[in-house]
Amino acid sequence: MKRLTTLFVLSLLILSCKKEVKGLIVEKAMVVSAREEASKIGADILKKGGNAFDAMVATELALAVAYPYAGNIGGGGFMVYRKNDGEIGALDYREKAPLAAHETMYLDSLGNVIKNKSTLGATAVGVPGTVAGVYAAHKRFGKLPIEEIIQPVIELAKRGVVVTKKQEKRIKKYQPNFPKANKDEILFDKQWKAGDTIKYNALATTLTRIQKNGRDEFYKGETAKKLAAFLQDNGGYVTEEDLAKYEAKWRTPITFNYDNLRLISMSPPSSGGICLAQIMNAVEPYNLHELGHNTVKSIQVITEAERRAYADRSFFLGDPDFVEIPVETLISKEYTKDRMNNFSFEKPTKSSEVSHGNIQMVESDETTHYSIVDQFGNAVSVTTTLNGAYGSKLYCTELGFFLNNEMDDFSSKPGVPNMFGLIGAEANKIVPEKRMLSSMTPTIVEKEGNLYLVVGTPGGSTIITSVLQTILNVHEYNMGMQEAINQPRFHHQWLPDVIKMEPNSFDPKVKDKLKSLGYELDETNSPVIGKVEGIMVLPNGKLEGGADPRGDDKAVGF
Ligand code: GLY
Repeated sequence: MKRLTTLFVLSLLILSCKKEVKGLIVEKAMVVSAREEASKIGADILKKGGNAFDAMVATELALAVAYPYAGNIGGGGFMVYRKNDGEIGALDYREKAPLAAHETMYLDSLGNVIKNKSTLGATAVGVPGTVAGVYAAHKRFGKLPIEEIIQPVIELAKRGVVVTKKQEKRIKKYQPNFPKANKDEILFDKQWKAGDTIKYNALATTLTRIQKNGRDEFYKGETAKKLAAFLQDNGGYVTEEDLAKYEAKWRTPITFNYDNLRLISMSPPSSGGICLAQIMNAVEPYNLHELGHNTVKSIQVITEAERRAYADRSFFLGDPDFVEIPVETLISKEYTKDRMNNFSFEKPTKSSEVSHGNIQMVESDETTHYSIVDQFGNAVSVTTTLNGAYGSKLYCTELGFFLNNEMDDFSSKPGVPNMFGLIGAEANKIVPEKRMLSSMTPTIVEKEGNLYLVVGTPGGSTIITSVLQTILNVHEYNMGMQEAINQPRFHHQWLPDVIKMEPNSFDPKVKDKLKSLGYELDETNSPVIGKVEGIMVLPNGKLEGGADPRGDDKAVGF
């Protein structure tokens, strides 16, 4: 008896020593983003009485200052929202192809892809959508005057932002490419060290003009003229006419159910919502909870679902204003059930036996996401990007920002991969004024009709699978927001036919068994899969933030 009691006490001790992982918990409102400075500016706007859409404007612009790696006014993004009355919607401020664009613009006379033309420098730049996006969001739903919202961002740009260790490493890594894209030296050529403060005076001046003159300053005003002249001078395609014609677009989000959850995610031109729906529909019939977290069988089910969804991605998806997409069929439970018919726990399905498209992808942790819940119960989930790290690496010194290389998200030529390894099909070919296909997956989850989760992540092709695993960690494995985000992640995207895994984070026995079944594992290419920012509404109504420890990410709230 004494021995049993000792064992019981020991077990209790072990249990109590198992550190409980919890993110920031607040009563009312929260912003989670890639940098504390941006989360704080967003949260301060909420504290002043602003709503989630006001905070979206503030956080988006603050990321352009504090996180130039992916935060931007020279790129684009997507917002999914759910208002406190249950109304949902989506905003597409994706970049688009300039008027001078054409199907073969990145091919030489022999029809071969010209190296770097769609990734590096002015030729890679699509018409930016971010400024139109924040103004559209504010015009429809904002509460505070936009001038008041932009003011703290301008102050941050003037005051400067302290370089973190991770940022120092990032700048160093990409520095060799800056002179290839820019004629003159740029702010980021300097050997910045952790602890240094970078001041963004040129960006402050541009933002001040936008604050004074509104969104047209960027698309028709002095900024537009300077930007178009700069791009033309560097051999780019974007003109004043392209900027003047740009509009953000309201879209109907993708919605689907999983158990007692309703998911609201981004519609085309992002593939995110459709792919997420396909994967979740495919795994729903299996009891993942019983199969266990990151076990052989659960990894098999998720991998096989991902393989099939990604096989469909490039074949069917593109800008819905230019191509017919069979959305209802692709996200129907019957369709995915049919796709999973040949799945067996005995062995992998070969990707060569799964039809449609021809996709290969490589990893990337660029792009950035932020999640917001306000004190009124409104939620926004936003993913925004320059595409590559620091976009095209082309930096307009006079205006103070990097330009995107989003044109690379089009398929330059069927059969040739873009920087994410994506080999596109007809649906995503280049056409003037068309939006390029994306993987961004800003997502909001309801549980039994109430707001439950706000999630999203950067990560190129791994965005969809990182969002998926975070939601499954919460729903199937009863994890809190921070705990769900901290878990190691894996990824399969049909081709190459490998399961990518974050290194040294999965049980060696699980890996051995998967290999013995015939799965190829790759731990070499993905030090990090995704960088998720999430907010969970707890049963008591409080909010738990999850800021991904893989970056400098931070939740701020009250
Ligand atoms: N440029 C990355 C994406 O849109 O998915």
